[in-house]
Amino acid sequence: MENLSTFTPVALEHASRLINHGPTVLVTSSDGKRHNVMAAAWSMPVEFTPPRIAIVIDKRTFTRELIHASGTFGVIIPGAAAIDLTYAVGSVSGRETDKFERFKIAAITGPKLGLPLLEAGCCAWMECRLIPERHTEDAYDTCFAEVVSAAADPRAFRHGHWELDSSNADLHTIHHLGAGNFVRASDTIKARELA
Ligand SMILES: Cc1cc2nc3c(=O)[nH]c(=O)nc-3n(C[C@H](O)[C@H](O)[C@H](O)COP(=O)(O)O)c2cc1C
Repeated sequence: MENLSTFTPVALEHASRLINHGPTVLVTSSDGKRHNVMAAAWSMPVEFTPPRIAIVIDKRTFTRELIHASGTFGVIIPGAAAIDLTYAVGSVSGRETDKFERFKIAAITGPKLGLPLLEAGCCAWMECRLIPERHTEDAYDTCFAEVVSAAADPRAFRHGHWELDSSNADLHTIHHLGAGNFVRASDTIKARELA
């Protein structure tokens, strides 16, 4: 893993906006020796400051094992260019195969927590520290975490906001419909005040 990020830091007070619109994300994890990446469609912000998020991660996944070992995980927001990769890492377990090797995934090292993070084909990432909540983890597979660092591709997210238009369609976030079908977030429309 290298430490060469091409992304621009995102202020922590803006980090929740990265998943406010419900994109499918990738979750990375490591126990120092083994590392892993999976897809997750079920994530949401739960607090602006400090930025906290919740994400459903099935207790049978290898990811959960690594998260409990380290107390940390990465959240990557893939762009449309990374649809095939997203589906692939969500369809096989890291217990059976090293997905980074198998799918030739290049990872950088997160600046705060040293987590593997992806940038190629992706538009943003966050490093997260697990907030241990045994009950919600056991009963609902829901893991809460605080975001401690975040960065984004400035072509898609700048000045604290998504800027998705026809110039950056490959970086538009993807939203899982099921069975490998996704829609991408395009065509931004602005709400107007009702008279
Ligand atoms: C598009 C997509 C979205 C998914 N969303 C979730 C999710 O929100 N939560 C979850 O636990 N698993 C989800 N999965 C399944 C995991 O990614 C899958 O079980 C993965 O193989 C687990 O990998 P691991 O055992 O290496 O951690 C999703 C799979 C796909 C393809």
